[in-house]
Amino acid sequence: MKFTKILAIILSITTGGYAYAESTKPNILVAYYSLTGKTEKTATEIANVSGGTLYKIQPDKSYPDNKKERRKVLEQEMEQNYLPPLKATNINPENYDIIFLGSPVWGNHISQPIKSFLSLYNLSGKTVIPFVTHSGGGRGQSFNDVAELCTNCIVDMDGWSSWGSGVGKKLTKWVNAQIQEIK
Ligand SMILES: Cc1cc2nc3c(=O)[nH]c(=O)nc-3n(C[C@H](O)[C@H](O)[C@H](O)COP(=O)(O)O)c2cc1C
Repeated sequence: MKFTKILAIILSITTGGYAYAESTKPNILVAYYSLTGKTEKTATEIANVSGGTLYKIQPDKSYPDNKKERRKVLEQEMEQNYLPPLKATNINPENYDIIFLGSPVWGNHISQPIKSFLSLYNLSGKTVIPFVTHSGGGRGQSFNDVAELCTNCIVDMDGWSSWGSGVGKKLTKWVNAQIQEIK
């Protein structure tokens, strides 16, 4: 057989295989809320490793810059379990199969904007993988909050939790393990 013919066969097999792999590839969204940038760093790394679409969740009204004032507003929101309205975006999370969902830990729980996000969309049947950053108190109730608020979602309780952004080899390994599990 001529070399060119062998090459053509190899090419058709490989491109065919690639097309199949592309069509069955799950749609990944990396949605996150971050107040001071740590969860954003984690989210960016998760999107880089997973190839997912990065989606920044933002409250309509931003929180005060002044730390003392901000703390007061946040504590009030948490106490009243106020769900801040979110900025509209052109991404619809309901169009994704797998959602990495990131938040800072606030008072041992998931942040209020993430609660807004979960109340806004119908993510039933989707795989939701929580990731949180904290300042030493650990993940607290945050994964349970996601499981409770995300009705009929498949919540992966083996989520990511780190003091600060946690970006590094361990995070890369965790993202790859989550994706392998889904495949
Ligand atoms: C209102 C508020 C409550 C917080 N509560 C906790 C907590 O319960 N446990 C903890 O370890 N860190 C707590 N933190 C610290 C943040 O979780 C931590 O700094 C996180 O990495 C910040 O993420 P971000 O930069 O993405 O906003 C709190 C921060 C704020 C603003």
